[in-house]
Amino acid sequence: MNALKTLNPYFWKHKLMLFWGLLFIVASNFFNIYKVQFIGKSVDEISKNLLGGINKTVLINVAIIIVSSILTGFFTFMMRQTIIVSSRRIEYELKNKIYNQYQSLSFSEYKKTTIGDLMNRLSEDVVAVRMYLGPGVMYVFNLAILVIITAVYMLKTNASMMLWTLIPLPILSFAIYKISSIINRKSKIVQKSQSAISTFVQDSFSGIRVIKFFAKENYIEKNYGQKVADYQKKALDLASVEAYFYTIILFVIGLLNVAILYIGGEKYIAGELKVGAIVDFFMYINILIWPFSMVGWVTSVNQRAEASMQRINEFLDKKSEIQNHNLDNYAIKGEIEFRNVSYTYPNTGIKAINNLSFVVKAGESLAIMGKTGSGKTTIALLLCRLIDPSEGQILVDGKNLKDHNLGLYREAIGYIPQESFLFSDTIANNIGFASEQPDLEKIISYAKKADVHKNIIHFKDQYNTMVGERGVMLSGGQKQRICIARAFIKEPKILLFDDALSALDTETEENILQNISSELSKKTSIIISHRLSSTKYADKILNLNEVQKN
Ligand SMILES: Nc1ncnc2c1ncn2[C@@H]1O[C@H](COP(=O)(O)OP(=O)(O)OP(=O)(O)O)[C@@H](O)[C@H]1O
Ligand SMILES: [Mg+2]
Repeated sequence: MNALKTLNPYFWKHKLMLFWGLLFIVASNFFNIYKVQFIGKSVDEISKNLLGGINKTVLINVAIIIVSSILTGFFTFMMRQTIIVSSRRIEYELKNKIYNQYQSLSFSEYKKTTIGDLMNRLSEDVVAVRMYLGPGVMYVFNLAILVIITAVYMLKTNASMMLWTLIPLPILSFAIYKISSIINRKSKIVQKSQSAISTFVQDSFSGIRVIKFFAKENYIEKNYGQKVADYQKKALDLASVEAYFYTIILFVIGLLNVAILYIGGEKYIAGELKVGAIVDFFMYINILIWPFSMVGWVTSVNQRAEASMQRINEFLDKKSEIQNHNLDNYAIKGEIEFRNVSYTYPNTGIKAINNLSFVVKAGESLAIMGKTGSGKTTIALLLCRLIDPSEGQILVDGKNLKDHNLGLYREAIGYIPQESFLFSDTIANNIGFASEQPDLEKIISYAKKADVHKNIIHFKDQYNTMVGERGVMLSGGQKQRICIARAFIKEPKILLFDDALSALDTETEENILQNISSELSKKTSIIISHRLSSTKYADKILNLNEVQKN
């Protein structure tokens, strides 16, 4: 259980609560077992005194049994309140840690893993680990304590009966462990099949327009039917194994009851045992059977947690290639130089930038042109330091970009990506994304600069209109302009348009360029485009088709 050792500090943090939890386990088990002897005693008392009816001893026994049962219930509740609650807290801490790691990972790391895979770390894997933290720990301790307490009482009643009843129980644990492992394996297969259905459905919902254009409804429906049939087959397969779970438990209960009746009966006839003692053994077995089964289940749960924790650890151990070593506070002027920069994408080996050099002075405007695939977006990623050059260096204000305070630098850069991305939120919040508390007046003034205000006021909820899945459908150009406003509102020193005017008609493009031309003169701006019209206000033009010979 090596991977799970990483959880020890978390256990340690919640040691007090877990310690109380263990005490509650002892208490709840003690009262649960303690009451049993009074059941046997009452049976003996009543059978001794059949005609006398219920006497005082029996009444006292009944009272003890009731109070013990209430205490058992109370301590079981407290046990769950401490142990399960701690496991939930640790889950929360772990989830936050994983989420922070997501955010700190570098751009190229995201390219290596799929979103589904990343999501699984946060959902499935953390849940598997929590099962170890909570039920896993709880049931193991519970069983250990229960067996010790019960063994003492059984031993007091009859030693050989104790052996007869205790020996089959570990075999039950083992059988349940085997079955749980098969169930786990098959559940995974069912889950996979289920997520294949969800992905398919999601895909066909988002692509519903395309499906309708191409009149492919029947094909999609047939495909869906196949996926559901596959799921059904796997789910039935799982159900057939699950059916054994309780069957085995019930079978063992039955077997043990027969054994107690037979052995106890013989001992009773031989005069070694009272009826009450036999009744006690029936009770003990019924109390023990469940925890023994659970331990089998927990063992397989813990194995799963181990595998999940290993995946989480691997993920948490990843170090982002983009590290920030500078925490100074200073002003960035905005001079940019590419000095013999090359970049090769590590996953594909494609050399997107080859020995590129250029200089943009602070306040200057550079237009970068080039045909599709010539490395324009790669330049933008390099400039935002989402990736670092494979060779050569990028200098900002004469200093290597790697030596700048990354947070400060990113604050100073306004990036409008090629593919407009908006969050499922209101338009106002999307535009004000960069500021902590965006005020509407400011948002409106920047929306005007990005030439999108006139569209927004036509929506029913204006700036409170929701965009994204359940909101309005924005046109490509509207989205682009909202992204432009979002970058403008930061008042960045460096503006970076990655083909951000491409979805706009030339008139809108001209409007925006005019609106910002006075600002552009105060900022360093890099306008990536494949349209000559966007380069009108630029001081210099860099044509990648000429300078890049790959
Ligand atoms: N994440 C990536 N992983 C691997 N290769 C990539 C990646 N992104 C881009 N490339 C490759 O790098 C080259 C340059 O891509 P880039 O996106 O920079 O081109 P672009 O000039 O922006 O093109 P477009 O005008 O179509 O936006 C292309 O050959 C592309 O296939
Ligand atoms: Mg591009």
